[in-house]
Amino acid sequence: MKLNRVGFVGWRGMVGSVLMQRMIAEHDFSLIDQPLFFTTSQAGQPGPDLGPDSGHKIPPLVDAGDLDALARMDAIVSCQGGDYTQATHARLRSRGWCGYWLDAASTLRMAPHSTIVLDPVNRAVIERGLAAGQRDFIGGNCTVSLMMMALDGLFNAGLVEWVTVMTYQAASGGGARQMRELVAQMGAAHRSAEALLTDPGRSILDIDEAVTAALRSAQLPAAQTGYPLAGSLLPWIDRDLGEGMSREEWKGAAEANKILGHNGRAIPIESVCIRVGVLRCHSQAFTIKLKRDLPVDEIGEMVERANDWVSVVANEREPSLARLTPAAVTATLDIPVGRLRKLSLNGSGGHLAAFSVGDQLLWGAAEPLRRMLRILHQH
Ligand code: HSE
Repeated sequence: MKLNRVGFVGWRGMVGSVLMQRMIAEHDFSLIDQPLFFTTSQAGQPGPDLGPDSGHKIPPLVDAGDLDALARMDAIVSCQGGDYTQATHARLRSRGWCGYWLDAASTLRMAPHSTIVLDPVNRAVIERGLAAGQRDFIGGNCTVSLMMMALDGLFNAGLVEWVTVMTYQAASGGGARQMRELVAQMGAAHRSAEALLTDPGRSILDIDEAVTAALRSAQLPAAQTGYPLAGSLLPWIDRDLGEGMSREEWKGAAEANKILGHNGRAIPIESVCIRVGVLRCHSQAFTIKLKRDLPVDEIGEMVERANDWVSVVANEREPSLARLTPAAVTATLDIPVGRLRKLSLNGSGGHLAAFSVGDQLLWGAAEPLRRMLRILHQH
């Protein structure tokens, strides 16, 4: 399909900006005849600079509430958030618009007419959706997408009986303001102990007391997150669904099985989702029950062969500490998987431990959407 007119909404926010960076880096705009940029507040202002080789003359920004203008698009990519999707998508469809809607928000993910896109893992499911005339292609939850990229080889081999996941999720999952606030909290914690740190005579307990007082202080910047995150963690993400489960935890099984195209033979996936004081990489520790007890080397090969971004880190101290961390992975497309080890549980065999890290803004958000535009182009 030729991508004649593609509209972008929410392209200036955090996920939208990463999407723009990646599209410019991969020359994706050269596939689009006429990109059009929408705005909720600055209609008429000049459009963005797409770099020297895009070859486009970008028209001024268009009002994102203008349904007539949106309905002229062959595809719309929204990183504007769930409220915009809620307010716009159904109205466009009810006018008979049958273009492609690509979205980072969760609103339409579980709708029966949508496909969750993560093409290295579920290209076949995407192709089936396209062939069936589906028009809504939605990016998955970041934690789920990163798990699926990491364990692609095991899921797609049909080897997984069940998984439990303990997550260590970055502030970026809560939005740009929570990232800023985390850095501000780190600064406040450091300032509270700066003088004590430079005095070698001061006890570490004095330093600890000063930092703890700063984190508990009403002066700590915490308006966005609600609580101290620097030097601490938050064991609840997203809404409380009742019965002890957060919405983030519910998404694990629901979205993973939809990504894999499972109907009625869902893989049990349970998680405990935790926010940690990291900027933009989610980490996850898995316990995986395999249907067959394979040697760990064979499992490692299956994991590594699954896609171009996953790599296995030897389960040894030095490579784990050097490569399997948010500091190492941030702003890359790498999905390292390590700490692969058979667990002795129940003596029943087939229990595997694994740990993975991935950039929440790349494979967790922007990358599957920009790749879906390319798939539409080839379609
Ligand atoms: N809900 C995720 C989080 C991010 O809060 O980390 C978006 O998928």
